[in-house]
Amino acid sequence: MNLTQNYSSYTPENHQVWTLLFDRQLHNLPNKAIPEFLQGLQKVGFSRERIPDFHEINQKLKPLTGFEVVAAPGIVDDALFFQLIANKQFPATVWVRTMAQLDYLEEPDMFHDVFGHVPLLTIPVYCEFLARLSGMALQYLDRPDIIDRLTRIYWYTIEFGLFRQPGQKARIYGAGILSSVGESKLSVSDESVKYEFDVQHILDTSYIKETFQSQYFCISSFEQLLESLPAIEEQLAKLREKEMEPAA
Ligand SMILES: [Fe+2]
Repeated sequence: MNLTQNYSSYTPENHQVWTLLFDRQLHNLPNKAIPEFLQGLQKVGFSRERIPDFHEINQKLKPLTGFEVVAAPGIVDDALFFQLIANKQFPATVWVRTMAQLDYLEEPDMFHDVFGHVPLLTIPVYCEFLARLSGMALQYLDRPDIIDRLTRIYWYTIEFGLFRQPGQKARIYGAGILSSVGESKLSVSDESVKYEFDVQHILDTSYIKETFQSQYFCISSFEQLLESLPAIEEQLAKLREKEMEPAA
């Protein structure tokens, strides 16, 4: 994969879309997102005026956690996706939605991939979880059924995770929520169903891609994610054994 961002090809409309979405979420997220996300936005140096340049992002990001952003040609397959992330290279698409697509997208664009994901990549313990979960996936590339279960963990944490400390309001850390104006309001409201983070519960819970989630899982610290890795590994290993038993 050798796709570059080709920064000079962005049109004035592309930059305007970024500005519009950026302003909208900067207004919307302060009492909804975890503070580390907002701090991360500053650390990676995003500005409201223009689409971030991956090269500039990486100069700030890499010294913090070792992660860098690499340009991806749209959705990448599981093998490449997990391989890149295990190597601390986060694949981000380079295209940006049009004005006509502001709130509806069939697949993630760079506002999701960059605005939603990159600020979290400034948090070392989050990055360690992400890289190790992806490394775990590499052992199961021959088993789509197990990758599907592991993807549920990715989905309900990295993409749609909430953070809640005892007695506190839920806050957003999932990138899929952070980049969506509608879901960022719904997810932390009293309207949504929220469960405590639980590995087995998540492994048993399928998800929907086409619309807002019908439930969310709340962690109380990023350490909790890291500490859950052995339990995830154990459950996935059990799934492999199960399928390998000879048919009766
Ligand atoms: Fe994403």
